Amino acid sequence: MGRTRVVVILLTILLLMATKAGARSGPTRLLVKVGALVDVRHGRLLPNHAILTEGDRITEVGPADVLLARAPKETPVLDLSRLTVLPGLIDVHVHLTVNPEHAGYRALSVSVPREALHGAANAWRTLQAGFTTVRNLGASGYADVALRDAIAEGDVPGPRLLVSGPALGITGGHCDNNLLAPEFRYKAEAVADGPWAARAKVREVIKYGADLIKVCATGGVLSKGDQPGTQQYTFEELRAIVEEAHKLGRKVAAHAHGAEGIKTAIRAGVASIEHASLIDEEGLQLAKERGTYLVMDIYNHEFILQHGERVGMLPEALEKERQVGPLQRENFARAVRAGVKIAFGTDAGVYPHGENAKQFTYMVKYGMTPLEAIRSATIWAAELLGWADRVGALEPGMFADLIAVEGNPLEDITLLERVVFVMKGGVVVKNVAP
Ligand code: ARG
Repeated sequence: MGRTRVVVILLTILLLMATKAGARSGPTRLLVKVGALVDVRHGRLLPNHAILTEGDRITEVGPADVLLARAPKETPVLDLSRLTVLPGLIDVHVHLTVNPEHAGYRALSVSVPREALHGAANAWRTLQAGFTTVRNLGASGYADVALRDAIAEGDVPGPRLLVSGPALGITGGHCDNNLLAPEFRYKAEAVADGPWAARAKVREVIKYGADLIKVCATGGVLSKGDQPGTQQYTFEELRAIVEEAHKLGRKVAAHAHGAEGIKTAIRAGVASIEHASLIDEEGLQLAKERGTYLVMDIYNHEFILQHGERVGMLPEALEKERQVGPLQRENFARAVRAGVKIAFGTDAGVYPHGENAKQFTYMVKYGMTPLEAIRSATIWAAELLGWADRVGALEPGMFADLIAVEGNPLEDITLLERVVFVMKGGVVVKNVAP
């Protein structure tokens, strides 16, 4: 046995011993004293509370004096008694690997490795903004899977990620790429036509690491040569995709703007309708009956109109936005009134990552109470993800994901745009509280 080999073995044994010793002393405890806590589930503000964390989990929540008296003397205390604490926020529709400056033809010059690195930078921005969990709905080359794993393994900081891999779509549809002439023979990687091809694509996307399936059921705004209002996949194709995904333990999120496509996707059994811009009365009722979530990105309109041309969006895309954007906001208000489930999703990547919370103001302007807007980004979003047992609330057993603001967000929702403290999994990742 060579000398280096002996040294390596000895070091390994020492490391194992050290890890064991660490395990014996138990996970680190922390008592977080908070001025007030937003109890999202019961819709109330609890003053002078405390949260006990152990390792990456919350173990106790209660009045500060009670928890302080009970905790072992050596438990370190983090004093946030001037702040209001909420569960870490959740955005269920982002594209971390996409940089908003690369719209339209500019996107063609960005490699998949470069996209992955954009993803790392954007994951950090998103986390700093108070979003501790996000669902990434569409990325090239499985850059999203790599990013999810890099974050989980501690290589780069970022939110917890659920990712879809590349989005399934029809030839020439919103999730294909129609920018180049035929001789380039370019098509997006998850284009699949027909129920069996679509099933095979679901299997392939899951094989390479997707947590859920994203599918384009209708045309889009920012794509070339299609219309948001028209249906793309047929019912048979959507049904095959949903069946296959469910069989393999995955949910399906469907991009759908047009009323027919929305209803077809709901009937096929998708978990969420993304955008839902032109949803009609029947669609709202169907969503309500089936418990389908609507994820309406009503902040996007602002950014696209103000900056779309500068970042390279096509003139036809801007024209489509002028038609669809205002209708989407009206329909958001109707969905709120109808009592349809709504989860907070912004399509960040179209606009700059880290500005996710700007959408809250629009959700309140178009009919939600601040509490409902916060629920859409916490307990309701968690339910859509299938993660209601681990994120979205400050309760024992959940991940210690929490954020803090100065003031009462139930009165002023814009406070969520100024998050001063972020903890993810028991680790403080931001603290700029004055
Ligand atoms: N990715 C979406 C699409 O291209 C963005 C839609 C943005 N516009 C809006 N009003 N939400 O279809």
